[in-house]
Amino acid sequence: MPERIEPLIDRVAAAGYDTFVVTADVPVPPNRENNIRNGFQVPLAITPRVFWDTVTHPHWLFGTWARTVINHGMPHFENMDAQRGPPVLAKNLMRNIGARDQLAWKHVELIRKKWKGKLVVKGLISPADAKIARESGVDGVMLSNHGGRQLDYTMSGLRTLPEIAAEAKGMMIMVDGGIRRGTDVIKALALGAHFVWVGRPFLYAAIAGGQAGVQRAIGLLKAEIDRDLALLGVRKLSEITPDLVRKF
Ligand SMILES: Cc1cc2nc3c(=O)[nH]c(=O)nc-3n(C[C@H](O)[C@H](O)[C@H](O)COP(=O)(O)O)c2cc1C
Repeated sequence: MPERIEPLIDRVAAAGYDTFVVTADVPVPPNRENNIRNGFQVPLAITPRVFWDTVTHPHWLFGTWARTVINHGMPHFENMDAQRGPPVLAKNLMRNIGARDQLAWKHVELIRKKWKGKLVVKGLISPADAKIARESGVDGVMLSNHGGRQLDYTMSGLRTLPEIAAEAKGMMIMVDGGIRRGTDVIKALALGAHFVWVGRPFLYAAIAGGQAGVQRAIGLLKAEIDRDLALLGVRKLSEITPDLVRKF
């Protein structure tokens, strides 16, 4: 495993990033039944439906698929290994990206030793794990259940946020999952988050309206936070306190 991790760290450093995020909650691919039903799978299978969808969307076929193949070759996973991964149509793709079930805290420690910048572990929920992360020299944790996309019945990071934030001791505490409105951001900050991430709303905005769509979504969320703070009688983010949230 170190022989695969170390070149990846070198590659990220050479690309000029200052923060390394290790996603901890995808050791094996999830069982997404909706994706199985609609045929979205890896390796990508050219089913009759995929073929039909492709030929009936010429704008996508030429503007996206053909342009990508001409400029970058067959699409492949770019960020799983230091070397270029196999193409998404390759039969051995699953084997190549699948086997991460041996990843353990010792690998986070290895990354910590080698990575000079900030280190973040994403995909924790348990206070015990957050404590190990802190003791391993991690600079920040992202409490996340992967947007509920990995394991059914997983609780949200918001549930353990207060407990983890109370023991942060200088570690940055971030949270994601289900943040949809200004009040969601305010709740997370009130419960102890230093920072909040938003996933699908911005993806949907990108699909609907490209960059302008994302900017519009950011504007909507910003305006909501601003208005909600005023309605709560709070003048700025730093004035948000835990008593704004009451558990019934
Ligand atoms: C299409 C899609 C792909 C994702 N891929 C990754 C990924 O490669 N690595 C990762 O750490 N999280 C991934 N996530 C999870 C997000 O980073 C994030 O934790 C989640 O979307 C937050 O929940 P929200 O969408 O409800 O805001 C993905 C989420 C979606 C919807």
